[in-house]
Amino acid sequence: MKLFVDTAHVPDIEALLPLGIVDGVTTNPSLLAREGGDPDAILKAICGLVQGPVSAEVVSTTADEMVGEGRRLALLDEHIVVKVPFGREGVAACKRLTGEGIRVNVTLVFSAAQALLAAKVGAAYVSPFVGRLDDVATSGMDLIGQVVDIYDVHEFATEVLVASVRGPLHVVEAATLGADICTCPAKVIDGLFAHPLTDIGLQKFLADWERAQAAKV
Ligand code: G3P
Repeated sequence: MKLFVDTAHVPDIEALLPLGIVDGVTTNPSLLAREGGDPDAILKAICGLVQGPVSAEVVSTTADEMVGEGRRLALLDEHIVVKVPFGREGVAACKRLTGEGIRVNVTLVFSAAQALLAAKVGAAYVSPFVGRLDDVATSGMDLIGQVVDIYDVHEFATEVLVASVRGPLHVVEAATLGADICTCPAKVIDGLFAHPLTDIGLQKFLADWERAQAAKV
């Protein structure tokens, strides 16, 4: 499974890159707004760092405008993936942009029906929001299982990009279900490393070694 970082904060991406586990980045209007500055410059900087898929979301609301904005975003860098919100306008825009060879990530997906339509119009990625479903007492991971099964049965090329991830367990569950990608805030990726028994075990190894060395002198 590929891991993307769900952020527009360049320092967080820079801190994770040396680990060799980052395959791409997803942004959204809220994440970019949080950074301030020039969104295009931030997106270009992220593309230069990651050299992998970087999702940039349109803020237009009609298919025509989404297509125009998507074309502009795609010209920023070869790694840009145009993110469009699910809906009638987004589906129409995805069909047109995909037809022009522009990769599209259909986002704000909350049902298998929506994911099916995104795949039918050739989306490169679909982003089901698991955390926001969990927030309303609906299993986000059940949706991931449904979408993975539908895409497998019908051999859709669209990749399942699990989004709105709230913790390491979401990542493990997504991998278990066969999702293609999980996009995580940096703090969630940090959480993937943590286990107290690893820390305790390493401390004991080192203490035993030191004790044995000291006994030799
Ligand atoms: O960026 C898309 C998605 O990951 C947003 O997640 O945490 O705002 O529900 P969240």
